[in-house]
Amino acid sequence: MKVLVTGGTGYIGSHACVELLEAGYEVVIIDNLVNSKKEVCDSIESITGKKVVFYENDCCDKDALRKIFKENEGIEAVLHFAGLKAVGESVSKPILYYENNLGSTLSLITVMKEFNCKNIVFSSSATVYGDPTELPITENAVVGGTTNPYGTSKYFIERMLRDICVSDPDFSVVLLRYFNPIGAHKSGLIGENPNGIPNNLMPYIIKVATGELPILSVFGNDYDTHDGTGVRDYIHVVDLAKGHIKALEKAVKSKGTNVYNLGTGTGYSVLDLIETFKKVNNIDVPYKIVDRRPGDIAACYADPTKAYKELGWKATLGIEDMCRDSYHYVSKK
Ligand code: NAD
Ligand code: UFG
Repeated sequence: MKVLVTGGTGYIGSHACVELLEAGYEVVIIDNLVNSKKEVCDSIESITGKKVVFYENDCCDKDALRKIFKENEGIEAVLHFAGLKAVGESVSKPILYYENNLGSTLSLITVMKEFNCKNIVFSSSATVYGDPTELPITENAVVGGTTNPYGTSKYFIERMLRDICVSDPDFSVVLLRYFNPIGAHKSGLIGENPNGIPNNLMPYIIKVATGELPILSVFGNDYDTHDGTGVRDYIHVVDLAKGHIKALEKAVKSKGTNVYNLGTGTGYSVLDLIETFKKVNNIDVPYKIVDRRPGDIAACYADPTKAYKELGWKATLGIEDMCRDSYHYVSKK
């Protein structure tokens, strides 16, 4: 079966491409390379020994999408990763975020319908839950209390895709709400290493460990958590990628909208992550406690039971694997 992967050279998309190829799917990638490099295709191919078809195009561009569907006849499903994801940037550039994230999804759906391709798996986020009232978070929790345009774009896209399913009973949408993906493929050939000063915890830890940045700031130690620092549900990107294969199977065999949390169900604090990283990699990570980061919540972790019951998926890799594999990717270069 042929699958279109938007944002396929990005961090999560590239890991999903590996899992797709290993499961026997044919992969066509569209990515405008705004946050990734074309060489990622070579890495995907050398890990799997299989070829991908790559298009450097913007997903907002309907004509480019039409060309891709024409040239790759029989695309049956889309994994839609393409999107901008920097929370802080989304606050200063909301138009860019809505235009890119909503616009690309609307163009994609329009062209999918033209080519009678009606199965889509969408990269949503635990951010749609806002500040949760109950932990662990189930899929039935209230959504929409988002605090930045990035999060709101995910919430809006979820709503749009649900509406499309209502209007067209043949459409099948799987919304995957990711918790905090970290880690990298064990080959060390694909992973995450953003340019500049990272926003997220693991990329920041890595830059301090490698000496590129002097010290990590821990944003607050007065939260109502076991050690006062923020608690998150870190999930290994390879587990997350495997979840997409199960979601794809679900999308192809069902209709309407289905939504799943992809997390491990376990929360770790900032200090837990730092200490594990130091231990498994035998390297120091100097840090200091600073004020809370505006907009942060104390704790966020998933109830992943539904994904296990309905998709037969659960995370298998632990926090030590995540810390080891994240560092392996950058230290290998
Ligand atoms: P990433 O930036 O590494 O990958 C996204 C890819 O999409 C990039 O390669 C980028 O070049 C491409 N892209 C962006 N806009 C595009 C457009 N208009 N047309 C074509 N390509 C475009 O990010 P990621 O971490 O791999 O995230 C993948 C998806 O998962 C995103 O939608 C993101 O919002 C979502 N998500 C990520 C996280 C996370 O913590 N990484 C958490 C929840 C949800
Ligand atoms: N943190 C620090 N120092 C840093 C960076 C982060 O202490 O330099 C702390 C944060 O305060 C938080 C935890 O580490 O307690 C995790 O922060 P991240 O920025 O790595 O992740 P968030 O949970 O804030 O947000 C991420 C993505 C969002 C996504 C959300 C849920 O950035 O896009 O996970 O999936 F919506």
